Amino acid sequence: MKSAIKTKSLTKLIPFSSSFCAISLFIFISILFFTTSKIVTINIGSSLLQPTESDPTNVNHLVFGIASSGKSWPNRKKYAKLWWNKNMKGCVFVDNLPPEENDNNLNSDDSVPQICVSEDTSKFNYTYRPGGLRSAIRVARVVKETAELNHSDVRWYVFGDDDTIFFPENLVKTLSKYDHRLWYYVGAYSENYEGSQTFGFGMAFGGGGFALSASLANVLAKVFDSCIERYSHLYGSDARVFSCIAELGVGLTYEPGFHQVDLRGNVFGLLAAHPLSPLLSLHHPDITDAIFPNMTNSKSLQHLFEAAYVDSQRMLQQTVCYDRRFSRTISVSWGYAVQVFQSNVLLPDVLRVQETFKPWKEKHVMAGIYTFSKRELHHDPCKRPKIFYLDNVSSGKDGIISNYTKSFYNCSNDKTSSKNLEVIKVVTNNLDLDSKQLQTPRRQCCDVLDSNSGQLMEIAIRECKYEELIYMH
Ligand SMILES: *[C@@H]1O[C@H](CO)[C@@H](O)[C@H](O)[C@H]1NC(C)=O
Ligand SMILES: *[C@@H]1O[C@H](CO)[C@@H](O)[C@H](O)[C@H]1NC(C)=O
Ligand SMILES: *[C@@H]1O[C@H](CO)[C@@H](O)[C@H](O)[C@H]1NC(C)=O
Ligand SMILES: *[C@@H]1O[C@H](CO)[C@@H](O)[C@H](O)[C@H]1NC(C)=O
Ligand SMILES: *[C@@H]1O[C@H](CO)[C@@H](O)[C@H](O)[C@H]1NC(C)=O
Ligand SMILES: *[C@@H]1O[C@H](CO)[C@@H](O)[C@H](O)[C@H]1NC(C)=O
Repeated sequence: MKSAIKTKSLTKLIPFSSSFCAISLFIFISILFFTTSKIVTINIGSSLLQPTESDPTNVNHLVFGIASSGKSWPNRKKYAKLWWNKNMKGCVFVDNLPPEENDNNLNSDDSVPQICVSEDTSKFNYTYRPGGLRSAIRVARVVKETAELNHSDVRWYVFGDDDTIFFPENLVKTLSKYDHRLWYYVGAYSENYEGSQTFGFGMAFGGGGFALSASLANVLAKVFDSCIERYSHLYGSDARVFSCIAELGVGLTYEPGFHQVDLRGNVFGLLAAHPLSPLLSLHHPDITDAIFPNMTNSKSLQHLFEAAYVDSQRMLQQTVCYDRRFSRTISVSWGYAVQVFQSNVLLPDVLRVQETFKPWKEKHVMAGIYTFSKRELHHDPCKRPKIFYLDNVSSGKDGIISNYTKSFYNCSNDKTSSKNLEVIKVVTNNLDLDSKQLQTPRRQCCDVLDSNSGQLMEIAIRECKYEELIYMH
């Protein structure tokens, strides 16, 4: 599959490198005369054309620009600590230094991005009515100021808020699908229909995070200040960035792994039905409930990261299997939770998002209308799936074992075959999303090993067979 990817980006590159093309064509033809191996000739031809393609994108090719303020950073740097490591590049932009940062300890903590103080934006007008925050201008200019840090060997710039939680390894994998030498604006709209409708389905919502190819960010940085003057009437920073990218003639490349999380309450349903695409970000952890029961918000995120550190690429990937003996449907959302439905639920229904949360604006006429397919919670709590939350993940010679333990089940009269079930153990191998799986993902399959009505259920996740269908046999 590697060669297929190369061919694709080769085609895109031809207008920029027609002279290289002629040279490589010449070599290609002459080698055909002297060798019998077609594979060898193709490799030589393409390595001449694309010397950098032999060097896969890694996290050092990314530069992060995180929008914060002197006031919010002290409380929110705990979120950056989850995903940042000291080898990464980028800045967290503040209006002024937080009180506890001073000349002696400034940027001494390498478990978070270094602090950069944003440039003055007082010369720009902010005219949004009925009155938003003029810091939107400063935050929008993070895009320009991050590109102007002038880091070398940059392929992608990634932007987010100080309460955006990124999954960097998954960002790298996802962005490597695209050629950073071309102009790309990669992100996602909101879960909230009204928000996406108002601000545009073509806008990457800033809190969910978004990425710009280095080639696009560099040109955007040059024209940005002249452009944003035309958008003083807009509310937020992301609308300004979107407008200026639109003026350059570029549209959004939608990646569903970015999550703005414009939801309130329990986001279990959203996380448990993650799209078939790597998890790239989460947002609004202060607004939503802790994602694991009986934990504080920060502890629950640390717990999620215990799984992400072991197999980032498999995070939240949903695998469904059917236990015919007890007519149960089991849905694994890896690294987070397993659900056991005490009936045969058809796959498309299991993949819908259960409405466990509340809308962003509860009183709005469009409250409860989302940009994903949802399934309402069953009114009878005994008919809802039983939820098992992640307990532990460990990686050993037999693969990766994650176990999930039963949580509070609001049903006093549980007579089902799962009533004794306490622990679900899931066995997987490390998921390495190759280019085929990234371009045309296929869900994996699973098997219930040794179906019984005891305390433990074991599940093994594997690749599906060629013609295999996921249904109750
Ligand atoms: C800001 O708005 C005022 C009043 O409309 C206008 O005169 C001025 O030129 C604007 N400033 C810039 C930098 O566009
Ligand atoms: C980056 O390069 C530009 C253009 O050469 C320059 O104006 C700017 O000061 C540089 N920024 C830094 C942080 O060195
Ligand atoms: C979870 O597994 C790790 C090994 O991956 C181990 O160090 C840790 O003690 C385990 N925790 C619990 C609560 O079993
Ligand atoms: C889950 O796995 C860990 C590590 O293997 C183990 O220590 C722990 O006891 C298991 N939890 C349950 C509830 O079985
Ligand atoms: C939370 O913890 C308390 C006390 O440890 C326990 O009684 C309760 O069942 C737990 N709740 C859930 C949802 O697990
Ligand atoms: C359990 O379900 C009942 C009936 O739907 C509901 O009234 C009650 O609030 C639920 N309790 C909890 C703790 O969710």
